[in-house]
Amino acid sequence: MPVPENLNIVPFISVENMMDLVIAVGTETFLLELAGYIEDDFRRWESFDKVPRVASHSRDGVIELMPTSDGRLYGFKYVNGHPKNTRSGRQTVTAFGVLSDVDSGYPLLLSEMTILTALRTAATSAVAARYLAPRNARTMALIGNGAQSEFQALAFKTLLGVDHLRLYDIDPAATDRCRRNLDRFGFRIEACRSAEQAVEGAEIITTVTADKQNATILTDNMVGAGVHINAVGGDCPGKTELHRDILLRSDIFVEFPPQTRIEGEIQQLAAGHPVTELWRVIAGELPGRRSETQVTLFDSVGFATEDFSALRYVRDKISGSRYFNQLDLLADPDEPRDLFGMLLRRQAALAAA
Ligand SMILES: NC(=O)c1ccc[n+]([C@@H]2O[C@H](COP(=O)([O-])OP(=O)(O)OC[C@H]3O[C@@H](n4cnc5c(N)ncnc54)[C@H](O)[C@@H]3O)[C@@H](O)[C@H]2O)c1
Repeated sequence: MPVPENLNIVPFISVENMMDLVIAVGTETFLLELAGYIEDDFRRWESFDKVPRVASHSRDGVIELMPTSDGRLYGFKYVNGHPKNTRSGRQTVTAFGVLSDVDSGYPLLLSEMTILTALRTAATSAVAARYLAPRNARTMALIGNGAQSEFQALAFKTLLGVDHLRLYDIDPAATDRCRRNLDRFGFRIEACRSAEQAVEGAEIITTVTADKQNATILTDNMVGAGVHINAVGGDCPGKTELHRDILLRSDIFVEFPPQTRIEGEIQQLAAGHPVTELWRVIAGELPGRRSETQVTLFDSVGFATEDFSALRYVRDKISGSRYFNQLDLLADPDEPRDLFGMLLRRQAALAAA
């Protein structure tokens, strides 16, 4: 096979280009198409290399690496989670990622993933809810109105038709912002004074708060029969959102059990507590929601295949577009083993200039 030119170049999607891409595609269409990629990859779950993400914990947060491969492509994401960050003007979660060619090991794409993570987390939640939420659910309580919240709302509108939101955050300014940002998307929105008030009449409850502790955002009495809980914010050891009693009466659906048992709400339960892998439901092997009274819980922590799907999707989308830069990322000497010679030639060129 002929060696392509410009082996040094890797397409790079900056934050600006990611925003322009999302705007050009349309946020709702982006979520819908991305959900399709995520669902497809869940359906071929067994073709992926899977490990719990590699987490480096510190007092105030965590830095994680999330790798996976389907044998043809390899992807990883770098992501952090630091709930205290918003107090110093930083985000709780930032991320970037790489997609590579397994055959040569060469990166094919480097991308910002802070925005992409918010989109893929929301799309994954909505995919799960399509199998687990009560039929024709229209009302969602959205507890925690930070960076992820509007994305969650839009994904549930686009994929499920949820058009009534009941918002709550301990910080009313966050709720105000979320409400303003969602103004033009056709929701009926109610700002609530407590989590108890927010869950009234909601068929779906999304918890997406950030706090580095075993918090109790929902207590057992707040969850009525037939509700679907989309628990997004509990995603680290010692960082959960639901009272244990809720877990004991829910049917629990998870991404990758070895990771969720460490990081998810189910870290509060015995190691053998039964859970259902979401991919088996998506693949049609096991049922999702079975009755109108069942409480279903998607114990979301975020898994590497979802980021792989997201990178795969944006790589397809930028093909032939202007939404990326050419990044000089890989050293490419004229003769592959003459890496040092390349340095010497650069030195000579600089001296001559
Ligand atoms: N499961 C996943 O795949 C996934 C992906 C991304 C982020 N997350 C997690 O989602 C959570 C939210 O992320 P973010 O980027 O929106 O964070 P953020 O800091 O921007 O927003 C979190 C919001 O939660 C609110 N909050 C904190 N404690 C609360 C409480 N007791 N009741 C109500 N509101 C409360 C805060 O005031 C803040 O507005 C984080 O914990 C993050 O780690 C999970």
